[in-house]
Amino acid sequence: MIERFPTPAALAAGVARHIVARASGATAGGGRFTIALSGGSTPRDVYGLLATEEFAGRVEWGLVHVFWSDERCVPPDDARSNYRMAKETLLDRVPIPGHQIHRIRGEDDPERAARAYEDELRALLDGGLDLALLGMGEDGHTASLFPGQTALLETACWVVTAQAPEGAIRRITLTPALLNASRHVTFMVSGAGKAARLEQVLQGPFIPGLLPAQAIRPGSGRLTWMIDEAAAGRLPGRYCGST
Ligand code: 6PG
Repeated sequence: MIERFPTPAALAAGVARHIVARASGATAGGGRFTIALSGGSTPRDVYGLLATEEFAGRVEWGLVHVFWSDERCVPPDDARSNYRMAKETLLDRVPIPGHQIHRIRGEDDPERAARAYEDELRALLDGGLDLALLGMGEDGHTASLFPGQTALLETACWVVTAQAPEGAIRRITLTPALLNASRHVTFMVSGAGKAARLEQVLQGPFIPGLLPAQAIRPGSGRLTWMIDEAAAGRLPGRYCGST
């Protein structure tokens, strides 16, 4: 399903509402809500909104377990850390128990950290996540699943190491094996810079080795694309809603 929003601010509010709705559904009967947060810049405004009274008061934070879809292999206080971004924008501002924040240890040896994270996930999850939040890069990557990399072909492991093409930083990423087992997978894509690639991903030939976002196809779960009009610029139709 594709949900279109007129502006980046409307997109952020829409994603925040979406997260609250998924969390409410999962915790309604006292159950846990397991969510993997995305890194990058698009989610910052979403996390900031989630921390406001309007949204935070609607989430049972004592039942929420937070994970990450990927992490850069840097210390947790590094400006590039996805954990640090979520900590500053959201986690330090809501009453989530510290032991329910499951960060990827980017400061450790990447292989060891990936194995430890997989162990932690398998100990806590009885299948996929309730919600995996993902972004999409201009090259069609998602999480740290980059074009042409073997991580895309991983069918057994839930967590592997990866190499970002543009720099020396190693990454640790969830694989399609776990993402596609999740109950909800939601992409949030903003900006005209992504419009051409988004058209390829959504409407072009299926070539996940070159367009990793195409590898994310939940089996029984629900895939949602939440995009703003700038990112939707090459897609047919136009925004007709009111938000
Ligand atoms: C990361 C993210 C990455 C991100 C995309 C989109 O660690 O950088 O996991 O996959 O979601 O690159 O990033 P923007 O939202 O900043 O465009």
